[in-house]
Amino acid sequence: MPRLTAAEEDIFQLRLERSGPDLWPMLEALYGHREDYPAFREALLAELHAAWAARPADLKRLDLRRDLQPDWFQRPEMAGYVFYIDRFAGTLKGVLDRLDYLADLGVSYVHMMPCLKPRPGDSDGGYSVMDYRAINPAYGTMRDFEAVARALRARGISLCVDLVLNHTAKEHAWARAAAAGDPRYRDYYLMFDDDRLPKEYERTLVEVFPDNAPGNFTFYPEIGKWVWTTFNEHQWDLNWANPAVFLEIVGIMLFLANKGVDVLRLDAVAFMWKRMGTRCQSEPEVHMILQALRAASRIAAPAVIHLEEAIVSPAEMLPYLGRGMHDGKEGNLAYHNSLMVQFWSALASRDTRLMTHVMGTHFPPVLTNATYATYVRCHDDIGWAVTDEDAAAVGLSGPAHRAFLSEFYEGSFPGSFAKGALFQVNEATGDKRISGTCASLCGLEKALEAGDAAAAELAVQRILMGHALIAAWGGIPLVYMGDEIALLNDYGYRDRPDHAHDSRWIHRPAMDWEAAATRHEADTPAARVFRGIRHILARRRATPALHGAVPTEVVRCEAPGIFAFLRRSPTGAVLCLFNFSESWLHLPVAWVQGLGVAGLHDLLSDRPVEPHGSNIALPPYARVWLG
Ligand code: GLC
Repeated sequence: MPRLTAAEEDIFQLRLERSGPDLWPMLEALYGHREDYPAFREALLAELHAAWAARPADLKRLDLRRDLQPDWFQRPEMAGYVFYIDRFAGTLKGVLDRLDYLADLGVSYVHMMPCLKPRPGDSDGGYSVMDYRAINPAYGTMRDFEAVARALRARGISLCVDLVLNHTAKEHAWARAAAAGDPRYRDYYLMFDDDRLPKEYERTLVEVFPDNAPGNFTFYPEIGKWVWTTFNEHQWDLNWANPAVFLEIVGIMLFLANKGVDVLRLDAVAFMWKRMGTRCQSEPEVHMILQALRAASRIAAPAVIHLEEAIVSPAEMLPYLGRGMHDGKEGNLAYHNSLMVQFWSALASRDTRLMTHVMGTHFPPVLTNATYATYVRCHDDIGWAVTDEDAAAVGLSGPAHRAFLSEFYEGSFPGSFAKGALFQVNEATGDKRISGTCASLCGLEKALEAGDAAAAELAVQRILMGHALIAAWGGIPLVYMGDEIALLNDYGYRDRPDHAHDSRWIHRPAMDWEAAATRHEADTPAARVFRGIRHILARRRATPALHGAVPTEVVRCEAPGIFAFLRRSPTGAVLCLFNFSESWLHLPVAWVQGLGVAGLHDLLSDRPVEPHGSNIALPPYARVWLG
């Protein structure tokens, strides 16, 4: 164990003083009633201290830097890129050869999709982990991982990795021990001798993968137990009511932090706490656990922040960024699922009224110590998280609008420009989720098939509008690998037995490096999208008003095809406008000026906007940041 200097010891104590009050009351409430609580508390403190002692010097320096710049992840310089290691670069060593490409795009954050050692065979894209302290051998070794982390750090690029909190693979050593009957490890999972309780729980549970993994429990005849398996059969839910699980995960978090991880993407957090008679999602205890985990990072590895993955309705999502007593103390980042869903919804209907209602009603203008991860596409499907109430507020039927969106993006709705695939059709609820790449859903695939250059042009404009939207809303915009070169759907997954059941693989294609090689000069959609996104990220960096802490205020606008919001910065308001239609639309200059926007300068194109008479004219799929 490395020895701490007196100064380092002192720093640890100061951070414990700072973040202890966020930690201990949560743990007291969760586990304080247990006899083993005092021993747990002591073990946790020892774990935090040991992790700090083991933290490499350069990371300790980074801790200090980020303590001094607590807004580092909210700054407009932040822009992320999300990729599968094998599909992007083959292996971790291969990633090292692609750093120039990332820098060229303007990326300052990378999320390497699940890279810890998964179970063999179908691993849910790596989310079924059998060893949290080892790297997937197909990608390389822990040394390779550390080399990538170091190389990224040298370029000022933060590294995000997945940490699955809700479940482990059934092949994980804990699960094996539990299956073998070890009582210590049985208590790490949720196991039942008969189906009485599982049946009772099922009454109020929802199904995540109704198609291929129906039900939330699995019976294993060889051990004579029912095991809680929310997702797939091979993913065993952890028992977070057991403090030993909390302790194990803290150890793993800090282990990864000390390997050079900057952002922990905490996967499937909504499901971590079970309560009879509920959906067992987003229970209050989940937020207590997440606050405690964040405090643990702030004590032993304060350079690290947490991204919470909870793909839920707006009202349920905000608490992951800290609401009420958790304000400023929970996730630093959470996915802005609603912004993503509303983007696709408005794009299909050419009508932004639902989007304006949802974004303007449910989201506060600012968050404390937190910001969103904004995105148009990710590795998962799109679920039409539009509530019946929100739909009704703008005169729509929720079920009808959701069905329309599925048909539109599957491509079957008459006149649809999109091409996608259905995912997890739920006969019981009528729910149909959608898979597809950004470009294919935006119309590029159909346009190219039809040899329709004008349609392809519109598709390019839609892709760029989406990226200009996520770059301006507030938060870290995440570009999903391949979207920056407009990759189309990959139908090859149907021929792979471990993927064929899961249409999400349609939008997880391999990187097309040949297309990428021509990005600076070609006139192809791929190259034009690349240059467009690169430009958007560059202009974002040059626009201080897009800092995550600057309020975002949705503005109602007369034209139903336009989505508008203001970033009210102390140096002046920036009005962000997006035309969601194929038509030219007009807005009165007087209306823009009435909102307190100083100039008619488009900060995105960096050109003045010439009014047409008393109006501003917005071409199809225009995006402007007026300031
Ligand atoms: C998250 C991941 C998803 C995975 C699930 C179960 O939602 O994004 O891909 O299937 O967790 O781990």
